[in-house]
Amino acid sequence: MHTLSLVSATITLSSATGYFVATLLVSAIVVHGEAFQPEFTEPITNLTVPVGRDAVFRCLVQHLGGYRVGWVKVDTKAIQAIHHNLITHNPRVSISHSNHVVWNLHIRGVQEEDGGVYMCQINTDPMLSQTGTLKVVVSPDFVFDETSGDILVGEGASTFLTCKATGRPSPRIEWRREDGKEVILRNGTSRVRVPSIDGPIFNMSKISRSEMGSYFCIAANGVPPAVSKRITVSVTFSPVIQVPNQLVGAPAGTDVTVECIIESFPKSINYWLGTAGEMLLTDNKHDVLEIVLSPYELQMSLTVKNFQRRDVGTYACMAKNSFGGVESSIRLYEIPGPTGPYHFNFDEEDYNEQYGSAENERDVQLSNRVAERGRRPSLQLTLGSARSTRHTYSSNHVPLNRASTCTTISISITSVTVFSLFVFILFTM
Ligand SMILES: *[C@@H]1O[C@H](CO)[C@@H](O)[C@H](O)[C@H]1NC(C)=O
Ligand SMILES: *[C@@H]1O[C@H](CO)[C@@H](O)[C@H](O)[C@H]1NC(C)=O
Ligand SMILES: *[C@@H]1O[C@H](CO)[C@@H](O)[C@H](O)[C@H]1NC(C)=O
Repeated sequence: MHTLSLVSATITLSSATGYFVATLLVSAIVVHGEAFQPEFTEPITNLTVPVGRDAVFRCLVQHLGGYRVGWVKVDTKAIQAIHHNLITHNPRVSISHSNHVVWNLHIRGVQEEDGGVYMCQINTDPMLSQTGTLKVVVSPDFVFDETSGDILVGEGASTFLTCKATGRPSPRIEWRREDGKEVILRNGTSRVRVPSIDGPIFNMSKISRSEMGSYFCIAANGVPPAVSKRITVSVTFSPVIQVPNQLVGAPAGTDVTVECIIESFPKSINYWLGTAGEMLLTDNKHDVLEIVLSPYELQMSLTVKNFQRRDVGTYACMAKNSFGGVESSIRLYEIPGPTGPYHFNFDEEDYNEQYGSAENERDVQLSNRVAERGRRPSLQLTLGSARSTRHTYSSNHVPLNRASTCTTISISITSVTVFSLFVFILFTM
């Protein structure tokens, strides 16, 4: 008690007159308690607490004397505690103190409604007080009823995806494609490809098949964990066929393969028709194969084994789903070609590697090599197990839903001449 020792020193050193003055002064100070006026020694620390965790406010006081400390929740004016007595009926609130200096207010398992400003008061006149804020944060969660599920929509139709999430602070919503490809942002009449889209609504007006796929709606507010929902968008349309080569020539005795690329959703039923309109299945004459390229694209191929004159004619690939059907034809014709074993002694170095594999009965593709001697780069010679020549002509094939993509490479008489010459050279060497 420094003040008291100072006072006694004053008393000792004072004269008689001074003594009385000092005595009066001391009694005045003690009576009015001014030398021991309570005060806060530190501000209350603001708290940010995830829901369900505990919070503790600490009020530090000195020279409390006979005064009392109380806790009040400011928004509701609810008194939490007065001095050593807990007032609130909230079972999650408790108090603790030590040495009349530290006064704690504990809130166990914080709930959203506990958030707000808390005041520590001392019942002086006028009252002394200081406040601390409890910010309750909540990690994001989806509102099930207001969040889209998987959708199935016709191509060209307008739709949207929506994701609503709760959380404190309010979560930010972001849309991304699962496969990491860009998403299409509609901005007025323009469409922009962007890595992600922000906001609770993902506008998909006039949807296209390229937008088919799985999307993630991600909700985050800085309070872990962020949440995401996977939404699958399926776009339906009737099948479309693209044929890389509509006219295919092959020498007798070779295996020749023709191909159709099909786009369809839902997945179409696909099959090949032979020259007499009969359905072709894999047998000792034919190999039928499908390769899936994407959720809505596949390649179907037909191999005619040991191609003969009677196999010449028009083949068709067919694709049907519940929205429609389409067919596209491919014409197979015979070209003169090597039959049986032969020697291949081409003098250009680049050929040697590929030729080596021809001896091993592997395919050798001399793309463009022959054509370089002609005028058109479209001639392709395949030697080995599948020897055939593919000539691509303009096609009149018009898929149902799309402008025709005509393949325009044509073969000139020159190339045919060069080809025959080439074959002739092969034979005479
Ligand atoms: C607590 O938050 C309030 C309001 O947000 C602010 O005025 C006050 O300075 C903060 N107190 C501390 C100790 O940071
Ligand atoms: C939409 O387009 C306008 C101008 O055409 C542009 O100013 C704006 O930034 C675009 N909004 C987005 C989200 O890209
Ligand atoms: C979606 O975008 C189109 C074109 O930009 C617009 O007309 C339409 O109002 C938008 N729909 C929603 C739900 O935002």
